[in-house]
Amino acid sequence: MKGGKYLLPLFLLALLAADANANANRKSYIVYMGDRLHDGVSPSLLHTTMLQDAFRSESKSVLCSYQKSFNGFVVDLNEEEAQKMAGMDGVISVFPNGKRKLHTTKSWDFLGFPQQVERAAMESDVIIGVFDTGIWPESQSFDDKGIGPPPTKWKGSCQVDPSTNFTCNNKIIGAKYYRSDGMIFSPDIKSPRDSDGHGTHTASTAAGRLVKGAGLYDFGSGTARGGVPSARIAVYKICWVDGCYDADILAAFDDAISDGVDIISISVGGGVINDYFEDAISIAAFHAMKNGILTVSSAGNDGPGRSTVSNFSPWSISVAASTIDRKFSTKVQLGDNTTHEGLSINTFDLKNKTYPMIYGGDAPNTTAGYTSSSSRFCSLSSLDRDLVKGKIVLCDRIGTGRGPFSAGAAGTVTRDQDQTDFTDLFPLPTSCFNLVDGNTIYRYINLTSTPTATIFKSTEVIDSLAPYVVSFSSRGPNPITPDIIKPDISAPGVYILAAWSQLSPISSIEGDDRLRTYNIISGTSMSCPHVSGAAAYVKSFHPTWSPAAIQSALMTTASLMSSRINLEAEFAYGSGHLNPLKASDPGLLYDADKSDYITFLCRQGYATRFLQLLTKDNSTTCLESTNGTVSDLNYPSFGLSTSPSKTFSRSFKRTVTNVGFPLAIYRANLNFPTGGLKVRINPDVLVFTSLGQKLPFEVVIEGTMDGSLVSGSLVWDDGEHQVRSPIVVFI
Ligand SMILES: *[C@@H]1O[C@H](CO)[C@@H](O)[C@H](O)[C@H]1NC(C)=O
Ligand SMILES: *[C@@H]1O[C@H](CO)[C@@H](O)[C@H](O)[C@H]1NC(C)=O
Ligand SMILES: *[C@@H]1O[C@H](CO)[C@@H](O)[C@H](O)[C@H]1NC(C)=O
Ligand SMILES: *[C@@H]1O[C@H](CO)[C@@H](O)[C@H](O)[C@H]1NC(C)=O
Ligand SMILES: *[C@@H]1O[C@H](CO)[C@@H](O)[C@H](O)[C@H]1NC(C)=O
Ligand SMILES: *[C@@H]1O[C@H](CO)[C@@H](O)[C@H](O)[C@H]1NC(C)=O
Ligand SMILES: *[C@@H]1O[C@H](CO)[C@@H](O)[C@H](O)[C@H]1NC(C)=O
Repeated sequence: MKGGKYLLPLFLLALLAADANANANRKSYIVYMGDRLHDGVSPSLLHTTMLQDAFRSESKSVLCSYQKSFNGFVVDLNEEEAQKMAGMDGVISVFPNGKRKLHTTKSWDFLGFPQQVERAAMESDVIIGVFDTGIWPESQSFDDKGIGPPPTKWKGSCQVDPSTNFTCNNKIIGAKYYRSDGMIFSPDIKSPRDSDGHGTHTASTAAGRLVKGAGLYDFGSGTARGGVPSARIAVYKICWVDGCYDADILAAFDDAISDGVDIISISVGGGVINDYFEDAISIAAFHAMKNGILTVSSAGNDGPGRSTVSNFSPWSISVAASTIDRKFSTKVQLGDNTTHEGLSINTFDLKNKTYPMIYGGDAPNTTAGYTSSSSRFCSLSSLDRDLVKGKIVLCDRIGTGRGPFSAGAAGTVTRDQDQTDFTDLFPLPTSCFNLVDGNTIYRYINLTSTPTATIFKSTEVIDSLAPYVVSFSSRGPNPITPDIIKPDISAPGVYILAAWSQLSPISSIEGDDRLRTYNIISGTSMSCPHVSGAAAYVKSFHPTWSPAAIQSALMTTASLMSSRINLEAEFAYGSGHLNPLKASDPGLLYDADKSDYITFLCRQGYATRFLQLLTKDNSTTCLESTNGTVSDLNYPSFGLSTSPSKTFSRSFKRTVTNVGFPLAIYRANLNFPTGGLKVRINPDVLVFTSLGQKLPFEVVIEGTMDGSLVSGSLVWDDGEHQVRSPIVVFI
């Protein structure tokens, strides 16, 4: 999920409305109208009537209506018409139907969450809604042997499709695809069946069953499993070859909330977001929260730049990607007998056979207009097939391997200054190098009359530095509310083995004939379902906990991560590394309900009238919220943005709920670097006498910042539970 163009702010619409040619620029817009209407009102009639009122002269049709869980619709408009709709009664926002991207198993063991962990009988009642590219139902990871019928609360359905042989079972209890414009491009299929692999991978990471002997060839072999092997999966296929559209995301949430899912896992995002209520995922997650459903989302793959995080609403949990201790090394031996160790997941075995080498810059496809300075990057069509066929090509960019692969190269070696801390799978033998090693290989080619090389199959090696947040994982701070730290938590997202679609090669490159039942891929898309699985695990022990309570349990029990590699500290890893086992027994909770988020929104600057529209409740008012700041949201972490050399004093009001021992004394342990800042916890001892008891406290931070970021933590400790919240002060 890389960023893209997404929202057209309303002020821009006003400017564009002056454009006389605006009628030509018709596209679909989402008209969002807050909570669902009270029973007795027909939303589709309302939507049609609204359009008739607005555009008498012309008949417009509602392309898609949302009415089960919230209110809104999709309609084709030009900018002028969109602006007019935005001014109509009852409308909260009007925004273009934007496009988002998709952002063993050893990873669970690495999290200290072994196969034999204690499990609640309730686990099979928990339903995870997976919003992705669909699913491969025949995968062993979704076998329903020994699993009873769906829980009675389940109200969803399965789009059984004989033409693609798609059916559900007691593991995959529901599945539907969403494509409001009906455009299906090859290789997509009009069925919940996954032709990509991504959705199968995420679903099996969250809730796949135990599959012995899984692996990708010899790699990652062992028992593949999800976080909650007994939980149910409900599939919402919202992503297609050309992306994931907001209109479809909203339609799927509208259904999932009323279908009765417990957790929503969405590894999708992107775009520039300026307002929580002009962002489809944030809007939908808000309604999910109101209905008791936690939305777990990926932080994005746009790192390591500052404020690149997507999916940062406070009513959802945003997941960064960290490494596990598995790494892949791929050696290349040159004709001069020197060996060079690069990165890649190379499953090909060239059996030590050597091939002639050529530099991509020496093989431009001149008929297609390429020159040496452009062909060196080896993009698709840039290479001369006759020159590279059967050779190992040195390329100056990592890319996808499609260029050399389609030109018939025997392999590829890359040198790229953007070489980072992870790598992908390529459709041909590949090893990737940074500039230092890459330049050595370049010099060898340039100085040798008949340069040759061989590429060895990769070997799995131990990464003793793990876990750290990988470079591509999007970073905070939160672009809208900097004082709410995002991302929230980190989980394994690099080299994750999980189930795969049989319609997609493991490199996802057309023409690669390696079809496997398990595949190793990386992304915050992979870290997100680890947290979804852990959230389901917590829910199986505590079915009544609110979304905020589950989020708090996951965050306050996360293991401490180090800022030695990740200098951005919490803005890389949030509260730390997911610890599912501890999350089921957090001791204390920072709980919040919908009224807390409404108060937060008041303090964020939304008006009473807006919030009444949002909630369809005229008793909602911001009057009592003025005495406080966004920092008083009962959030399980503490963020404070300030400016250089400004002296400040900020208070954070919090209330914790006792869910550990009925009688418990918690003492505040403050770990904060001494320096220009003073932190006080008041009171610093909390004495509980019953379960469910709530006690308030306050954190006060004052002083002046001399650096750009100071971070530490507050730990409430009763001797058994350590309830940790990061405290971050930054400029
Ligand atoms: C459909 O699925 C069934 C059960 O898995 C299988 O036996 C059958 O061969 C499949 N048919 C096609 C056309 O894929
Ligand atoms: C590389 O090693 C092989 C086998 O040991 C040897 O035959 C060959 O002469 C060596 N080549 C060079 C350039 O050293
Ligand atoms: C291939 O090369 C590797 C590393 O140089 C060596 O260990 C192995 O024995 C070779 N295999 C064959 C079949 O020559
Ligand atoms: C150059 O690229 C064009 C367009 O992709 C392709 O048709 C042609 O075969 C290529 N030529 C060579 C020599 O590879
Ligand atoms: C490659 O070698 C030639 C001849 O030695 C030299 O002129 C040229 O500059 C070299 N190319 C690069 C990019 O170093
Ligand atoms: C809420 O107030 C608005 C504006 O005053 C009014 O139009 C609407 O009917 C009221 N809604 C309810 C449910 O009372
Ligand atoms: C408003 O905040 C101040 C300072 O924290 C506090 O003394 C006062 O009681 C608050 N008033 C209300 C109505 O909550």
